[in-house]
Amino acid sequence: MTAHLLKAEIHCHIEGATPPSLAQAQAAKYGLDISHLLDADGYEWSDFSEFLVCYDAVAALFRTADDYALLTETYLGELAGYNTIYSEIIVSPDHGDRIGLGADAYLAGICDGIHAAREKTGIEARIIVTGERHFGPDSVIAAADYAKRAKNPLVTGFNMAGEERMGRVADYARAFDIARDAGLGLTIHAGEVCGAFSVSDALDLVHPSRIGHGVRAIEDPALVERLVELGTVLEVCPGSNIALKVFPDFDSHSLRALKAAGVRVCLNSDDPPFFNTSLMQEYEIASSVMGFSDAEINGMTRTAIEAAFVDEATRGALL
Ligand code: ADE
Ligand code: ZN
Repeated sequence: MTAHLLKAEIHCHIEGATPPSLAQAQAAKYGLDISHLLDADGYEWSDFSEFLVCYDAVAALFRTADDYALLTETYLGELAGYNTIYSEIIVSPDHGDRIGLGADAYLAGICDGIHAAREKTGIEARIIVTGERHFGPDSVIAAADYAKRAKNPLVTGFNMAGEERMGRVADYARAFDIARDAGLGLTIHAGEVCGAFSVSDALDLVHPSRIGHGVRAIEDPALVERLVELGTVLEVCPGSNIALKVFPDFDSHSLRALKAAGVRVCLNSDDPPFFNTSLMQEYEIASSVMGFSDAEINGMTRTAIEAAFVDEATRGALL
């Protein structure tokens, strides 16, 4: 049982946290039919490409700052309900732009949701602006420029998510240079759909302190050694990896081997309802299916907070 343990996550995409019931309510609000996106078990998609299409369709159900405030407060309220003290929310200004809301209102709504949740529950949260790789290098650079321009105290990091098979990391390195110059923490999705080379490229060209997923680094022992030496933190999302068939089952997931090798790892939910999971369930699976002790799980929570993109006073209060 992990319900009593304190929890933290540093990798959850805001639109990916939409419960199907909220998607249905949003569709009703805007007179839209989303029956093609849902079946009796939740969101309907069959592979990574279809998942990304489904994600974009769900994102298009949020059209005002208040919609995003509601989504953010709903997500953080659920986390706080099972003892989560910190979350880093991955947000993509492109999704705000694409629906005609605009990046400023998109970000303002998410900030409103964070403030409301903090007032009600005490949960602490920060925002990681992400570029979407499948929208192309120019859009990822524009996202980094936006994160820099926004000068929003809750925006503390920059990421790149989306279709890992599109282009090479070098095509996107400039975006990370912009974000680094702006003082933002850096993380990047790599080693999820693509193999170890993708993680190596990320380390060589982006120099991030964290990697989103990174679990396929296990395919290259020298790379695992490098991650240990650098102290890079892997934001591991086991339920997501099983749903997206990165590994066939939890027994063959690389989390145990990576941790045993000395890689710094933590637990995250990624896009919980899309993968029929929750942060609570990720902790439960780590305990009862993957066999981690409470002490090991507490260690992973501590790693998340140590790696968090927060000021030292906030980190100290969380630790
Ligand atoms: N966007 C939302 N979830 C993602 C994932 N698991 N990988 C890449 N991009 C994403
Ligand atoms: Zn992700």
